[in-house]
Amino acid sequence: MNRSLDSANIEDTPERAAERKQNHIDICRRDDVESRSRDGSAYFLTPDALPDFAPDAVDTKRKFLGRVFSWPLLITGMTGGVKDGQRINEILASLAERWDIPMGLGSQKLMLKDPSYVKLFDVRKSAPHAFLIGNIGAVSFNYGIGIDDVVRMVDDLNLNACAVHLNALQEQIQPEGERNFENLFPVIEKLVSKLAVPVVVKEVGSGMSSGTCRRLMECGVAAVDVGGNGGTSWSVIEGLRGDPLTHRLGELFRNWGLSTIESVEECVPVAKTFGEAPPRYVVATGGVRDGAQSALLIALGAQMCGVGLPFFRSIVNPQAGLSPEESLEQEMRFFARSLQIAMYCSGAKKLDDLSARLRKRSAK
Ligand SMILES: Cc1cc2nc3c(=O)[nH]c(=O)nc-3n(C[C@H](O)[C@H](O)[C@H](O)COP(=O)(O)O)c2cc1C
Repeated sequence: MNRSLDSANIEDTPERAAERKQNHIDICRRDDVESRSRDGSAYFLTPDALPDFAPDAVDTKRKFLGRVFSWPLLITGMTGGVKDGQRINEILASLAERWDIPMGLGSQKLMLKDPSYVKLFDVRKSAPHAFLIGNIGAVSFNYGIGIDDVVRMVDDLNLNACAVHLNALQEQIQPEGERNFENLFPVIEKLVSKLAVPVVVKEVGSGMSSGTCRRLMECGVAAVDVGGNGGTSWSVIEGLRGDPLTHRLGELFRNWGLSTIESVEECVPVAKTFGEAPPRYVVATGGVRDGAQSALLIALGAQMCGVGLPFFRSIVNPQAGLSPEESLEQEMRFFARSLQIAMYCSGAKKLDDLSARLRKRSAK
């Protein structure tokens, strides 16, 4: 008999972690890693057959975490920690700089364990003015990472905010996963009080319920990123890294959780109860694949929409004849243009006008 059923017994050394990050990049580049959302088209934006303003009047600016951005889109935190990751991060960072959108870094656990990895996350040179969001897994605080380590990391890399990711499902499936998420609310509360920058807590694909959102906001977090089901599935990705049992478990939980729309519906009313001083934000990430969908999520009350896999793939599998940088630029243009079109054709001059245009499709 090898070991208990519910705990991983593989030590997570920096070498193993770096290898895992490379696996993630390879799998996300190549495999079918997306969950299938049940959202369908439950909502739509009421069309305005005769928008009575010029398309140029469409205003996509958005306030988030104390800054006004040109677009309500953010580059969600993606893998760093391997050579490919550094290059990907630099390309993403220069997009964030050019388009004036926030960018999340991938998990920085590796650099906290081994300082030789710090340079892989230092993208300031590519994005001197961009709003950069650091990243650490909440569970890491139960496995040796300290609050002071994260405070130092944010200072050293001159980051503008810090994301704490919640990935209980991923860690249960991951062969070397850190499985125990017990007692982390007080740690998050302490992190909020120690950091000089806002804290965002993000799920990575299972979504966020109203209850969890409330407890996190009570801890003082400035924003919750719902990380809903419907996009990249970390259950599937870890399943593809493991033995046949792990693979089977990964597939079983492919569609686990609340979808991104369901999570936004749960969390937005909660965020509103915390008032405006300071405002609490809901970010919609998970399966956001175009600007029209972003418009819908914003109409539902999300402040920003996070995009992961489409940006990642546009770099690692660039469109024919384009460099990775050009391919990413093209993807961003697609998002931006489709958002503008959805706003114009639903008669929304500003993002705040979208809610009034939202309709629920009647059940057949
Ligand atoms: C290649 C890749 C690496 C990722 N690495 C991280 C990570 O290190 N930390 C994190 O919080 N989320 C990570 N994510 C999850 C994303 O931030 C996001 O929550 C998820 O991909 C859902 O968005 P999507 O459907 O647009 O991909 C990663 C996603 C991808 C595609």
